Amino acid sequence: MNLAELSRTAEAMVAKGKGILAADESSGTIKKRFDTIHVENIEPNRRDYRELLFRTPAMKDCISGVILFDETIRQKAKDGTPLVEIIAASGAMPGIKVDTGAKPLAGSNGETITEGLDGLRERLAEYRKLGARFANWRATYDPTKVTYNCINANAHALARYAAICQENDIVPIVEPEVLMDFDNDIQACADVTEWVLKETYQQLYYANVVLEGSILKPNMVVPGKKGAKQASVEEVAERTVRLLRRCVPTAVPGIAFLSGGQSDEEATAHLNAMNTTYDLPWKLTFSYGRALQAAPQKAWAGKQENTAAAQAAFAHRARMNSLATQGKWKPSDEKLAA
Ligand code: 13P
Repeated sequence: MNLAELSRTAEAMVAKGKGILAADESSGTIKKRFDTIHVENIEPNRRDYRELLFRTPAMKDCISGVILFDETIRQKAKDGTPLVEIIAASGAMPGIKVDTGAKPLAGSNGETITEGLDGLRERLAEYRKLGARFANWRATYDPTKVTYNCINANAHALARYAAICQENDIVPIVEPEVLMDFDNDIQACADVTEWVLKETYQQLYYANVVLEGSILKPNMVVPGKKGAKQASVEEVAERTVRLLRRCVPTAVPGIAFLSGGQSDEEATAHLNAMNTTYDLPWKLTFSYGRALQAAPQKAWAGKQENTAAAQAAFAHRARMNSLATQGKWKPSDEKLAA
């Protein structure tokens, strides 16, 4: 393990004004996204869509890294250039999703355990040769039913994954996501997220993961989308920061939030509020999938002639979130021409 390189990579992932584009949708997840824009989920469409994102000039100023799915890290653009080369040319680092998905947890009433540890050492060695400098592993928790069995099993898997990544000089993004799809209130999200983060850092310690060479990707503290009471931007920021202070060691260089189903503007406003209001020991940035891609997907709709409009929509969201990482975003900026 080369700790100096791991630290350099982790610092670069959370460099000032930049964040991560999560474009690591599995074939099943990208199908769901394509279904909403009536685009067939076939390889050339996935290639064209991702190529247009990676060729967007705003990548250079706003995006530090791109998380890819296995197919994408091996894929070539229409003109034959490997997509990883296009990403690298923009100054961003390629990363790779390495978990194989959340599966039913035996003995549990509907909770999940994220799988993918078998053969991971060998897969990481190959991904590094293909250009990956960081990896992602996502565990998910339902705040309305979570048990210690689920929290502990997922934390243990995250820790084993992170240790194997570091052995291969790949920075692990540790992503424990308390889902926001249910009817729970914000307090339930806060309580479960605290439990999850505490257990996750305990297991990372047991697994000898060097925190300086890792990035945390948590959910923000928000009420469930089906909950009766929604929260203000200030409340989400205040509760999220309070919880991170309780749970995340200061050796961690950066925290890159997932968007988790928040609207584009909410995800930006929450990140901005945290960066404007609080003096924190970590860089706070984004690792958004949906909150960066919903707008360009809609603008693209699978049509070649919409490429420029889709790139403009992606550039706009990337710029808004770049401002939010610096606490410089204002709601009126949303009206700036994309
Ligand atoms: P969302 O921002 O859409 O939650 O995606 C983040 C992600 O990378 C999931 O692994």
